[in-house]
Amino acid sequence: MTESTDVLTSSILTADEKLASLSAEQLRQLVGLVDYDAAGDVFPVTGWDAVHWVVGNATQTAKHYQSAFGMRLEAYAGPETGRRDSVAYVLRSGSCRFVVTGGVAPDSPLLDHHRRHGDGVVDISLEVPDVDRCVAHARSVGATVLVEPHDLSDEHGTVRTATLAAYGDTVHTLVDRSRYTGPFLPGFVARTSGHVPREGAPTRVFQALDHVVGNVELGKMDEWVRFYTEVMGFTNMAEFIGDDIATDYSALMSKVVANGNHRVKFPLNEPAVAKRRSQIDEFLEFYDGPGAQHLALATHDILAAVDHLRAEGVEFLQTPDSYYTDPALRERIGEVRVPVEELQRRGILVDRDEDGYLLQIFTKPLGDRPTVFFELIERHGSLGFGKGNFKALFEAIEREQERRGNL
Ligand SMILES: [Fe+2]
Repeated sequence: MTESTDVLTSSILTADEKLASLSAEQLRQLVGLVDYDAAGDVFPVTGWDAVHWVVGNATQTAKHYQSAFGMRLEAYAGPETGRRDSVAYVLRSGSCRFVVTGGVAPDSPLLDHHRRHGDGVVDISLEVPDVDRCVAHARSVGATVLVEPHDLSDEHGTVRTATLAAYGDTVHTLVDRSRYTGPFLPGFVARTSGHVPREGAPTRVFQALDHVVGNVELGKMDEWVRFYTEVMGFTNMAEFIGDDIATDYSALMSKVVANGNHRVKFPLNEPAVAKRRSQIDEFLEFYDGPGAQHLALATHDILAAVDHLRAEGVEFLQTPDSYYTDPALRERIGEVRVPVEELQRRGILVDRDEDGYLLQIFTKPLGDRPTVFFELIERHGSLGFGKGNFKALFEAIEREQERRGNL
């Protein structure tokens, strides 16, 4: 793609977004998509490509993401397709794609990864128009190139890809699939499942991925902010320090970086010194190092999404009733699209800033370890991350931490 065609890319939808029937206006609302001029971008990123998970049981996890989160199976690779040591299920909701992988052969490296980290995100892969240009820039500023640019080809065409190291064992695979028409990548076959959604289930529980939060060690947050700004040309979006996110026990520091069009947003947390062990410390211990803490799934209708997920057995962090009865909250949030009682009944949090408001809620950890979890987010103009809710949220997380004996 030439640079001149990159200008004001927010009106140009990705193939995944077109497939999901999303409009540019919807994406502005859903994930805060903005116009930007890619001509001067040293590392142009179009958007997310996929979130790759390593889990203990990919077959069952893939079923859970279909039944509870309404995702659709669209591709598969495993022993039947020539991938001897592991299985991979490609799932989609709207423009968001998950690849859920697990080891099959006892000597699969995925099993070593899982033994150390448990269920988690291993690769946040990004769609880029020019893999070689991105890698050349990344190398010139000292990034670690784990896999050099190369082509993957089959009868559906060619994908150009390369992989950069990020925090901990997390990586970013860069993908240019503009010359490829297959179901996912060479080596995968198209596959749908016989899963039938429950009657009354939303068509899609969520439409897009909004942000992925990384937890890094004490003192490392600025290093990773620098990685994203210098290597990937991302810009700083917001900053929360100290008292913004401090409770009696827990404190953390957080900064947010985003790509030019704001499709890709990475808040980065590090623990801050507090009276007792913070949730970030607990994550770092049980994930055995830095990793992806939560993924925010953007939805048009968080109320319907939460009702559906609860009916499917997904558990959310509880919000204390005092959060909703606090007169300061009502004053802070002003008018939102539903009565506060509707939010209270579901434990949905609300935050407002100068641009608008957002509704959000957080699940409990997805797997056995107190590590990765989901957020659901419904944006109404606000481009924030729920700063006003952090204290209420962390107090809820700490109640769970205390029950696990980790506070
Ligand atoms: Fe978040």
